[in-house]
Amino acid sequence: MTEKQFTQLPVSSFHMIRTMIREYCGLNYNENTYEIFSGRIESRMKQLGISNIADYLEILRNDHSDICELKALIEIFSNRETYFFREQNQLDVFKNVLLDDIIKKKKTVDRPRVKIWCAGCASGEEPYSIAILILEKRVSVQTEIDILGFDISDKALRNAKQGIYRKASFRYTHPAIMNKYFTQTTDGVFEINVEIKKMVRFIKKNMILDDQPDLMGTADIIFCRNVMIYFDPEGRKKLINWLVKHLAPGGFVLLGHSESLLNMDTPLQAVTINTEIVYQKSEFT
Ligand SMILES: C[S@@+](CC[C@H](N)C(=O)[O-])C[C@H]1O[C@@H](n2cnc3c(N)ncnc32)[C@H](O)[C@@H]1O
Repeated sequence: MTEKQFTQLPVSSFHMIRTMIREYCGLNYNENTYEIFSGRIESRMKQLGISNIADYLEILRNDHSDICELKALIEIFSNRETYFFREQNQLDVFKNVLLDDIIKKKKTVDRPRVKIWCAGCASGEEPYSIAILILEKRVSVQTEIDILGFDISDKALRNAKQGIYRKASFRYTHPAIMNKYFTQTTDGVFEINVEIKKMVRFIKKNMILDDQPDLMGTADIIFCRNVMIYFDPEGRKKLINWLVKHLAPGGFVLLGHSESLLNMDTPLQAVTINTEIVYQKSEFT
């Protein structure tokens, strides 16, 4: 397809595709994103060798092979920006307060197991930061720590499992931590050490259209940072319901700094610890 063959994405197609994306995974592209949206669809059509928008919509609508084309669009449209030790103050609250609180509550059990999830973990920097903090804290070996990262994006999960990172991921990483937990492979490329890699499991999960919600069980602490910022109110509601369902009684949810549950109807209680707001589920639910 040449440049000239593509006439701008009709507004009705823009509405249709963005609705499909929003309903599938929560990502919301508003009216102001038309230009960028249109450009990305154009590139995708070029990649597939399709010049007619009607043909492309046909593929999107009728692609029942596990909705592959929609999945390809999610890879194109999702924002997977992340880095190690993002929002350090909040991570300190996790390490110094929340973790102790959860471990203390489980002390009656022989070998307490603390479950920590990173919901929307992107390429893994967040769950690996948590694993490093736990090693640095020297949590008693009597406590089993189970860290699970999940994401809707195959590409993000592939990178997370690989554990190979470039400099942009280390903008807030102390050099001593880099030396201790990473090995430089080539110039500017670092691989996370195997002891950290082994502490984190990764799975694919779509929190908006979860067809197997009951298999997940519950977690004690869920990081869901910088995910719902890209959703509309309806998507946020679905996401919060999913998180509440999967949070153990007394457990905590941590959101990104520009996200809040203010004005949302939720059973989670906002708790302020060292100027950080975290959300807790009642012990008695
Ligand atoms: C901006 S990244 C945030 C990464 C990390 N939590 C952080 O704060 O650095 C958002 C991630 O959420 C994922 N995501 C978006 N919608 C999702 C959904 N419905 N289910 C699971 N993951 C989703 C995206 O693929 C992306 O990797």
